[in-house]
Amino acid sequence: MSDDTKNAVAVVTGAAGGLGRVITRVLLEDGFRVAAIDIGRGRLDEAFRDEIGSGDVLALECDITDEAAVARTIARVDDTWLRLDALINNAGIEPQHSIRDADMTLWDQTFAVNVRAPMMLVKHATPIWERQQRGTVVCIGSRTWQSGSSTASYGASKAALVGLVRSIASELGPIGVNANVVAPSFVRTPLNAIKGDHDYIDDYAARFTAISAMRRLIEPIDVANAVAFLASPRARNITGDVINVAAGSHMPPTIR
Ligand SMILES: NC(=O)c1ccc[n+]([C@@H]2O[C@H](COP(=O)([O-])OP(=O)(O)OC[C@H]3O[C@@H](n4cnc5c(N)ncnc54)[C@H](O)[C@@H]3O)[C@@H](O)[C@H]2O)c1
Repeated sequence: MSDDTKNAVAVVTGAAGGLGRVITRVLLEDGFRVAAIDIGRGRLDEAFRDEIGSGDVLALECDITDEAAVARTIARVDDTWLRLDALINNAGIEPQHSIRDADMTLWDQTFAVNVRAPMMLVKHATPIWERQQRGTVVCIGSRTWQSGSSTASYGASKAALVGLVRSIASELGPIGVNANVVAPSFVRTPLNAIKGDHDYIDDYAARFTAISAMRRLIEPIDVANAVAFLASPRARNITGDVINVAAGSHMPPTIR
């Protein structure tokens, strides 16, 4: 446990998901108390069965696309712990579509969760940060913000998220808030399970391993460790930046 994060308070969205569970656990190990937010109460109870009774996890069901629900959730965290140190915008969706056959409601849903919701969470956390004169935002982006994606709405939303984070860094920097993006490459989580059957995902993972400079696949703990660093005061003068957690798969392959 680190002294600089002991009793600090984090909000993690999408906490019941593949990356959210591990991010929440690593922040707890670092001494944070965590408000674990997800759309499904049952999945939160299942994910944090052992931790909920400890008093260090506040499991809150919230659809982050609903601004009134977001406002209530942030108020509940402030009422409970009287502070908010780190907001981890982790929840994200990637409904599959081609450009030719795009159903634009999928585009709107993707932007609602991946871009509009982080903006609303920051908006409702800002009065707390004005009071505290400090705060931290970490958003989970994707390597696709640079490379593009086979799903245009997803790649576009993750690029927009970088623009949002840089705007947050710029506007809220004077009140002591830093904001950054962690951009992972492929990780085996439920987000990717919708892309195909087991063999397809195995092949997808093998191709990612092959294009990475380190010939490695990213694990949830790799993402969580980067988040924990950026969420801590150790990263207090890093802002407006993107940390790729991609084992080098975000770089063009070198020809040898
Ligand atoms: N898995 C990967 O390969 C990968 C790679 C790069 C980036 N990411 C990003 O990492 C983040 C986490 O992804 P994951 O792989 O853990 O996905 P996941 O599907 O396992 O988890 C996402 C979580 O977000 C929650 N969520 C979705 N919509 C919500 C809403 N409206 N309100 C509240 N919660 C909602 C879901 O219930 C789910 O628990 C996402 O932003 C994703 O885009 C994932």
